[in-house]
Amino acid sequence: MRNCVRPNIRALTAYAPPWTGLDRTQYLRLDLNENTRALPPEIRPVLERLLSSGAASRYPEYRAFMPRLAQQVGVAEENLIITNGSDQGIEILLRAFLNPGDGMVVAQPEFPIFSHVAQVIGARVQGVPFDANMIFPTEAFLDAIDHQTKLIVLINPNNPTGSTIPLEVIREVLTRHPHLPVLLDEAYYEFTGVTCVKWMEEFKNLIIVRTFSKAFAMAGLRLGYVIAPAELIQELNKIRGPFDVNACAVAVADAQLDLPHALHYVEEVMTRGKPFTENALREMHIPFYPGAANFMLVEPKDRDGVVIHMKQNGILVRPMVAPALVKTFRLTIGPLEEMERFVGVIRGYVEATK
Ligand SMILES: Cc1ncc(COP(=O)(O)O)c(C=O)c1O
Repeated sequence: MRNCVRPNIRALTAYAPPWTGLDRTQYLRLDLNENTRALPPEIRPVLERLLSSGAASRYPEYRAFMPRLAQQVGVAEENLIITNGSDQGIEILLRAFLNPGDGMVVAQPEFPIFSHVAQVIGARVQGVPFDANMIFPTEAFLDAIDHQTKLIVLINPNNPTGSTIPLEVIREVLTRHPHLPVLLDEAYYEFTGVTCVKWMEEFKNLIIVRTFSKAFAMAGLRLGYVIAPAELIQELNKIRGPFDVNACAVAVADAQLDLPHALHYVEEVMTRGKPFTENALREMHIPFYPGAANFMLVEPKDRDGVVIHMKQNGILVRPMVAPALVKTFRLTIGPLEEMERFVGVIRGYVEATK
């Protein structure tokens, strides 16, 4: 039957998470840009209610949650669709806009789901390399948009490079191409505080994708959302299944919207864990690319040696495989105590290999 599968799918490789086969729970996981803490204790009764009320046995309902999310985001309910992780938001948007052969412009190396889904569709990825310092390649990006381009992708900040796109560049793209959809991925919005959501009224071609996976510690529950003009949301509703987002994810997200300390983790990471790590790396003369969110690319002299040493000491980091990044690993930044542990281990390696 394999031969019955479309050839472009057969040619693809399945996405394999790093450290496949390893029991990651035994490690400090600084490899997947997750929130490294458990959900707040207030969430336990929410899950208990979900079970005892029978809500988990029924198909999920989103009626009560949507206006609350809309209020939180600052848009109307009709401008939102929730998705099974923002991965699904990305997937339905690409399926909505791209036919086989159409072009999608994106700066690379980028979050791999974009190119993967484009290839599943049979669309053409018009990749534009970041410059050597991982700076967004504005000129080349604008030049790459041509008559075959049917979707423009901006990831701000980008994963894995951590690079930001200046707001004036985003504005320039939106203004120059008012008839092309511009998908802006804001997965790390809570860490940067930078968003273009206030431009939704002004630019009808602006579509924003966000997630509860990172700041809200819900990567395992899977909840993302798309912010877009109402008539586009209606089209996306035809692609997403009616029950694709599970009841548990909605209940937990809903409860977190009311928790004043839900985002304390973000503050801890950005104001303590991150400056501490950057200072320590500088002090050890280990080059890194400062990222805007809760992760960064680190480029030690002996990348593989460091990654193995980390693992032997109970810490997972992510060695990058993209040709431009093979000398780096991506480090997720957690709260101070975790980063102290990371710095202690890398310092041990540096001293032992002097
Ligand atoms: C830039 C970016 N977008 C989207 C996602 C997908 O997140 P999720 O599907 O968990 O919402 C990620 C996850 O790492 C990401 O880094």
